[in-house]
Amino acid sequence: MIKINYLIIGSGVAGLTLALKIANQFPDKKVTIVTKASADESNTKYAQGGIAIVTDKIGDSYNKHIEDTIICGDGLCDPAVVEMVINEGPIRLKELIEWGAMFDKNIEGTLDLGKEGGHSENRVVHHKDQTGKEIERAILSQVESKKNIDVLTHHFSIELITEGNRCLGAHVLNQVTKEIMSFRADFTVLATGGIGHLYGHTTNPVIATGDGIAMAYRANAEIRDMEFIQFHPTSLYKKGDGPSFLISEAVRGFGAHLRTKDGHQFMPDYDVRGDLASRDIVSQSIEKELAKSGDEYVFLDCTHLDMEAFIKHFPMIYNRCKQEGVDLAKDWIPVVPAQHYICGGIAVDQSGKTSVENLFACGECSRTGLHGANRLASNSLLEALVYSDNIYDYWSDTDFPTSQFEGKAEDWGNNDKPKVDPEYVMQTKEDLQLLMRQNAGIVRNDIDLKLAEKELDKLEVEIKKATEDYQVNANLWELYNLVIIGKIIVHQSIARNDNRGGFVKIEKVN
Ligand code: FAD
Ligand code: SIN
Repeated sequence: MIKINYLIIGSGVAGLTLALKIANQFPDKKVTIVTKASADESNTKYAQGGIAIVTDKIGDSYNKHIEDTIICGDGLCDPAVVEMVINEGPIRLKELIEWGAMFDKNIEGTLDLGKEGGHSENRVVHHKDQTGKEIERAILSQVESKKNIDVLTHHFSIELITEGNRCLGAHVLNQVTKEIMSFRADFTVLATGGIGHLYGHTTNPVIATGDGIAMAYRANAEIRDMEFIQFHPTSLYKKGDGPSFLISEAVRGFGAHLRTKDGHQFMPDYDVRGDLASRDIVSQSIEKELAKSGDEYVFLDCTHLDMEAFIKHFPMIYNRCKQEGVDLAKDWIPVVPAQHYICGGIAVDQSGKTSVENLFACGECSRTGLHGANRLASNSLLEALVYSDNIYDYWSDTDFPTSQFEGKAEDWGNNDKPKVDPEYVMQTKEDLQLLMRQNAGIVRNDIDLKLAEKELDKLEVEIKKATEDYQVNANLWELYNLVIIGKIIVHQSIARNDNRGGFVKIEKVN
């Protein structure tokens, strides 16, 4: 058993920000970050559009941003949380800039503000179309300069250690040495990000397998709002599974139009906000157009835009499309909705506390009440920054817990067990992804959800047994976690009978 003060699981914007702040505040305490891939690999690194923050107090206002967030959340946001998060924006931005993050400016020397779906004003602060990479770079370089932070890369958190309703740390697999370490921590935080690989067709990188939410669920933490899956309307169309390249919503904010293959600009048929309706509406509208036409994708047309200005703002998107043979000056981009974000997660209060004592959560794996039934674009980086600060504040004012628990490292019996067949894990994951896409996608119905529920119940038994029979292996445990996330999404979708935001259930006629 390794004793530490603070255990942070995940090294995206949420985990890194919290680690940095707490390490600065308590130089004599030890902060340990465990992260399952390289230090920077995370959903954060791929964030394109930017961070929604009210910086222009003349044309924009906190109230407008609050109103846009609440409209987008379709009546299910917690207004006190929305107000708290949005009012904190400027101070969190100032801190990021102090840590070295750079954001684009316009010729007047003020921040260049992009626009995305659901926003009534331009308020998205960005670094070209690679805002996440810039934020991750800046915070990570601060973290790496701190002597009291250990960043353990390629360390996979398997399971939380609990005693009754209290979290005492986590069991972690060192994926290089295959050693299983038990960290006994005074405070534990889940900052493990999203769930995209439950669906396969996703904008998320492969690390997004819902591990933190599944670990919290197994520790009996409250998990809420998991039926609200956000599908991003415009991922670059490709055949097959795996991460899909995102075409930022800021491209539509820049003036691009969605079209069917015969050129019809269809979004005004569905919403007065046209191409800049919130992304739940845009994804659902694309789904309807595809069902009508039988096509596999619609198009995003940038051909009428000022290409020089476009390339300055969106160099990565421009180059990636070019690599795929799409010249944005004359070709339309084939796009399709893909899973992008989970609005629900581990329920937390405003201090990031979960329902399990001593267990905290922040970032995409948490459910704060900010997003309701549908997240407003570019509100999640802000949420992660604000909640990691809230946890830091709480910890700064809290005495260390005085548990008498000593315990010893659990013997996982790894040396006596066979290795699982990687082919079996891969195939089962693909089957699971197909099941989720077909039975729990953008538009759901109770018949298909209940069929999925039966399949998932069977799969859970099978995969749980595999985790007991075979050596601990990150891919197998990710699969186990994905099955659990699938089950929660399906249960919570069956339980919801009103269509809100990103959740649409229809009656299926056989
Ligand atoms: P992440 O950044 O995903 O980090 C999770 C960390 O946990 C990773 O380090 C991962 O390796 C680690 N981890 C996971 N499981 C384990 C485990 N079992 N053991 C150890 N470590 C583990 N939001 C915006 O606000 N604006 C945008 O412009 C924007 N654009 C986006 C574009 C893309 C393509 C994507 C995918 C998302 C975008 N988002 C955007 C959403 C936003 O990026 C994420 O919600 C946010 O970055 C999540 O941060 P996080 O720290 O909670 O999680
Ligand atoms: C995008 O750039 O379209 C993604 C923004 C977000 O998910 O908040």
